[in-house]
Amino acid sequence: MKDNNYIHAQSGLEKDARAWWKEGVLYQIYPQSFKDTNGDGYGDFKGVIEKLDYLESLGITMVWMNPFFGSPLVDNGYDVSDYTSIHPRYGTMEDFDAMLEGLHSRGIKFVLDVVVNHSSIEHVWFQQSRSSRDNIYRDYYHWWPAEKGTPPFRDSIFDPEGAWQFDEKTNAYYLHYFAKEQPDLNWENPKVRAEIYEIMKFWAQKGVDGFRMDAFQYASKDTTFPEWPKGHEKEYDKWYGMRPQLHDYLKEMYKEVIEPYQLFAVAEGSGTTFQDAHDLVDAERNELQVAYHFDCRDIVKDVPSYQLSDFKAVFSKWDDSFKDKGWLAIYLSNHDVSRLVSRYGNSAPAFRSLSTQMLNTFLLSMRGTPYTYYGDELGMTNIDMPTIEEYVDVSAIGDYHRAKAAGEDMTEFMKKLNFNSRENGRTPMQWDATVNAGFSSVKPWKKVNENYLEINVEAQEKDPKSVLNHFRKMVQLRKDHAVLVYGDYQILDEAHPDIYAYTRTLKDKQFLVLLNFSDTESTITLPQVVGILKPLINNYDAFEIIEDRITLQAYQATICELTNL
Ligand code: NOJ
Ligand code: CA
Repeated sequence: MKDNNYIHAQSGLEKDARAWWKEGVLYQIYPQSFKDTNGDGYGDFKGVIEKLDYLESLGITMVWMNPFFGSPLVDNGYDVSDYTSIHPRYGTMEDFDAMLEGLHSRGIKFVLDVVVNHSSIEHVWFQQSRSSRDNIYRDYYHWWPAEKGTPPFRDSIFDPEGAWQFDEKTNAYYLHYFAKEQPDLNWENPKVRAEIYEIMKFWAQKGVDGFRMDAFQYASKDTTFPEWPKGHEKEYDKWYGMRPQLHDYLKEMYKEVIEPYQLFAVAEGSGTTFQDAHDLVDAERNELQVAYHFDCRDIVKDVPSYQLSDFKAVFSKWDDSFKDKGWLAIYLSNHDVSRLVSRYGNSAPAFRSLSTQMLNTFLLSMRGTPYTYYGDELGMTNIDMPTIEEYVDVSAIGDYHRAKAAGEDMTEFMKKLNFNSRENGRTPMQWDATVNAGFSSVKPWKKVNENYLEINVEAQEKDPKSVLNHFRKMVQLRKDHAVLVYGDYQILDEAHPDIYAYTRTLKDKQFLVLLNFSDTESTITLPQVVGILKPLINNYDAFEIIEDRITLQAYQATICELTNL
């Protein structure tokens, strides 16, 4: 960051102070799909080490890596059986240390995925807990004794049979909001919390810089397990999580881990209201630091189409709510959804690159910490998986059985799954045009997208106008200009059907962002905007402006500095 900009930034910030995790650009790595170095078909830490220079070349400053701990891998590592060990698939603890050191020496911070709403059934705590009713680990999980009858219904996100699983050994049911192999930990138990803080300290002492708290809004539950009124299922997050005592636990965690080690933490999910989100992350609360809401994900449902007006409304209302206080993550893709360009852009050959560049311009020019999912800096797309036999994801398979039991039209269901499934976002990184896209010397754990011959790092390195090089330019632009990090956001001509236009303003600096979300040329009239300088970034050569009318080509994205202040 250029210092002079940041002097403005600092003096322009009244409530919350500057922070590296606000100024950073985050890159998310799904480790089993990034780079395989030992020829087993799975990505590994040595693969990340091999690609450190690539990561540095992107300009990103933070890496969040999905889980790599000891695990039976029912949910690809979101079912942890040993929180302080490394699954051999990824390498050893020495490899982890070398990877962390390699990132740090390049100025890249590391964000650890902490999966403590639940563990794996193979965790020693659960093995003990299920062994007898008077085991000292019994209260580490939620149990319902069968002599009390069937427990009040609780739905499960992955398991069509519901969230209570009968366990014969002790004649009781245990609770699992996700798969039955992911029993929920009992956060009301202070011993559980103390164990978790020790785990977090272990990683903090290793030098990780931040945490991403998986499914954390569900950690605290009403453990009397009352029957809930009809209609509660429409507000899953409200009923299943965000109990008031969650905040006590977060404050405790802050005191024990976050503050002493000067870390930060992101809450995955942020309740159902803005107030919920603020209560999780506002600075003076001393809980978490960054809110990661799902509204942007939910704009797109089962088909690749959405209203630009909804897109604008979601980002505008969240920005408005966070303009004075709190901090947001800005993302459009991750390991739980389909690919960025397939979901929000246009993956047709003529528009794939342009629309990905447009979306990356958006992500990197909003207020909030931008998150880029590996491969989206290239415009990697969804894959085609029309039949259920190809799916390995516990969530996809659960949804399939649920739909079948409900008598849904399964042809329609498969169409939706093919578009929406999170397997789309987990295919191997496309490094080059050699066999298996340069990801592995053997058949990878998940099939490579056949478009790798065309969409790959090596090809895009050579092309100054590629999606990759545009991404790099955009990252640099953000790093050079504090206005893109801290500046106020103001939407312009909100009703425009094709173009998303907004300004970012910090003290005497003002940038205008213009994004055409349509596949045709479109004109916007902005009488309130004067003094447009030549674009700082543009995914076309030309930029057409006649008086106050600007015409953008299909998926054109540009940012200009304004001089009217
Ligand atoms: C959210 C994670 O992002 C997802 O991948 C996982 O399956 C669930 N939490 C359960 O841990
Ligand atoms: Ca490997």
